[in-house]
Amino acid sequence: MKILVTGGLGFIGSHTAVALQQAGYEVVIIDNCSNASETVLHGIEAITGIRPHFEKFDLREKGKVREFFGKYGDLAGVIHFAASKAVGESVEEPLLYYENNLASLIYLLQELEKQDKAHFIFSSSCTVYGQADTMPITEEAPVKPAESPYGNTKQIGEEIIRDTCRVRPGLQAISLRYFNPIGAHPSAAIGELPLGVPQNLVPFITQTAMGMREQLSVFGNDYPTPDGTCIRDYIHVVDLARAHVVALQRLMAGKNQGNYEVFNVGTGKGSSVMEVIESFERVSGVPLNYKVVDRRAGDVIQAWADTTKANETLGWKAESSLDDAMRSAWTWEQEIQKRKA
Ligand code: WQD
Repeated sequence: MKILVTGGLGFIGSHTAVALQQAGYEVVIIDNCSNASETVLHGIEAITGIRPHFEKFDLREKGKVREFFGKYGDLAGVIHFAASKAVGESVEEPLLYYENNLASLIYLLQELEKQDKAHFIFSSSCTVYGQADTMPITEEAPVKPAESPYGNTKQIGEEIIRDTCRVRPGLQAISLRYFNPIGAHPSAAIGELPLGVPQNLVPFITQTAMGMREQLSVFGNDYPTPDGTCIRDYIHVVDLARAHVVALQRLMAGKNQGNYEVFNVGTGKGSSVMEVIESFERVSGVPLNYKVVDRRAGDVIQAWADTTKANETLGWKAESSLDDAMRSAWTWEQEIQKRKA
């Protein structure tokens, strides 16, 4: 059975392509390569021995989307990752984010709504909760006004899918609200490839340890948390990828309740910035050069998932520890350096 993975050359998309192939599915990737390289196809093939089908075009080109579905009329499911995802950039370039993240979604759904039955998994984010009032965060926590256009595109995206499912019973959809994806495939054949200066904590840590960055700035240690630094739910990308396969299989088996569901995908455990640094130093043996600086605007104090619904209803649970994820991130960073040599 063929599964479309949009943005399948990206960090989470490529790991999901691997998980799908290992579950026996044929993978078709659409990517415009704006934030990923075609060489990721070699990485996927190095792990599974199977090179995914690959179509390079931009999902904002409505005609190309229609043409694609004319060519691939037998898709068993669609997992939609393709989107711009840098929070800071979205503040500077709101129209780029609204156009890219929403037009792409709409054009995909306009093709899927024509089908008698379509299975659709949407890449959403815990960012929709903003600073949730209570921890851990359940799927019933209120969606709060977005702190950034990026976060708003995830909220609006979910609403577009919900409203479409309401009038298109053939469209069966699940939104997965990711917490903080980190790490890399243990083979080090694929991983996160941030362009330019990493905005996220873990790639900045590994690049600092590798000597590519002078020092990690810890954005504030005066928060109302045990050690003063922000707390997040860091989930190994391989666990996250598996959640997509399980969610898709739920839809294909008709086990979903109603035709639109939402699941938080995290470990259920919160870790502070300092705990992530300590984990890195423990698994790598490399002391990390960091300094505490002012808070970063827009950061929420704490966010970690209540994973009861994912564990009990979806039937998925994260298996990797923070140390496992940090170890894989460090192995991947060393692999990147080897490739540059
Ligand atoms: C984590 C913690 C920072 C960098 C964002 C998006 C979210 C998702 C994941 C796309 C925070 C601290 C970070 C640094 C630091 N992205 N930090 N120094 O902000 O929780 O989530 O990325 O889907 O939607 O919002 O992740 O890794 O940027 O930050 O101290 O150099 O690390 O303050 O507390 P975040 P992050």
